[in-house]
Amino acid sequence: MFCIGKHLIKSPYFLAPMAGVSEMPFRVIAFEMGAGLATTELISAKGIFHRNARTQQYLRFDPEKEVPYSLQLFGGEELAMCHAAVEAAKLGAQIIDINMGCPVKKVTQTGAGSALLCDTRRAASLVKAMRLAVGDGVPITVKIRTGWDAQNINCLEMGKALEDAGCAAIALHGRTRAQGYSGRADWELIKALKASVQIPIIGNGDVISVEDANLKLQESGCDAIMIGRGALGNPWIFRELLGGARPTAIERRDLIVRHFQQHVEVNALRSFRSHLVWYSKGFENAGGFREQVMHLDQEAAVLEAIDAFFSNKLPVADQEMTDLVDYRQAFG
Ligand SMILES: Cc1cc2nc3c(=O)[nH]c(=O)nc-3n(C[C@H](O)[C@H](O)[C@H](O)COP(=O)(O)O)c2cc1C
Repeated sequence: MFCIGKHLIKSPYFLAPMAGVSEMPFRVIAFEMGAGLATTELISAKGIFHRNARTQQYLRFDPEKEVPYSLQLFGGEELAMCHAAVEAAKLGAQIIDINMGCPVKKVTQTGAGSALLCDTRRAASLVKAMRLAVGDGVPITVKIRTGWDAQNINCLEMGKALEDAGCAAIALHGRTRAQGYSGRADWELIKALKASVQIPIIGNGDVISVEDANLKLQESGCDAIMIGRGALGNPWIFRELLGGARPTAIERRDLIVRHFQQHVEVNALRSFRSHLVWYSKGFENAGGFREQVMHLDQEAAVLEAIDAFFSNKLPVADQEMTDLVDYRQAFG
């Protein structure tokens, strides 16, 4: 156990923020499975300022289950970020995370996301300003990558600057911005960052199995491990990591049904299709199921398909980091 600011973190296994995935229903499931933290997907500071309708949807959270509630902001302008942080805290955010890792051009060209990696001083100044804006009660954390590209790896320098600015914890995805999701995450750099600062470090990148997570947690000396793609379709990984059992067929079906029902309360039905693709990973005839659900646009029909497919069987293969979905445009 360790603390982020005043918040006690009960499990060293975190769900990674993932746009389009880490919405309230999935975060709640992760917490229920024992995740120590499940940060929201990146939320636009300007969207909060303008009370944008889509942004309001991203702000949905469950104050009972999401404890502590960590909200990720992105933005390139200090004032807008400070304003958004204050608003987010008023809405219930207990930790504010700054996205300094997003590689997507639309984000970096506004000076946000991984563009902040290119200017350590600006990044540190942002943390300082946001800390001042929200006060001591709401810790500011940051999620970074190892650097902009192979020639500009600066996560250690960045770590020091952020720590000095009052950052309460850093999550490091062990890839450069230029790498996107290619190559392997560099866990040596994650280990080096952990050794060079006092604040909690959360290691992230390519953890897909229980064995892998435990090995990386131990070898890196990190305070926690953050799991993204490895939790897609497999939120039970957080329970298994804490020594719990794999899900039975019925339990799996019931959870998928609940996830679907909560998802469609505020989202279009078709946006759940990628979850169904992930949940069916490793199952016999997963291809047939995916083909079937791609054409369904009625809630009752989807529920029937979930029931028929998941009620009586378990996956036959362990999940792999297969590219069922194109991550090249993923916001991380
Ligand atoms: C679909 C998708 C969406 C993502 N969105 C975000 C995001 O909103 N904010 C963020 O900091 N990282 C985001 N990321 C990056 C993840 O948080 C994580 O750093 C990355 O996937 C590496 O971890 P993994 O190998 O466990 O997946 C996203 C990744 C994926 C695959």
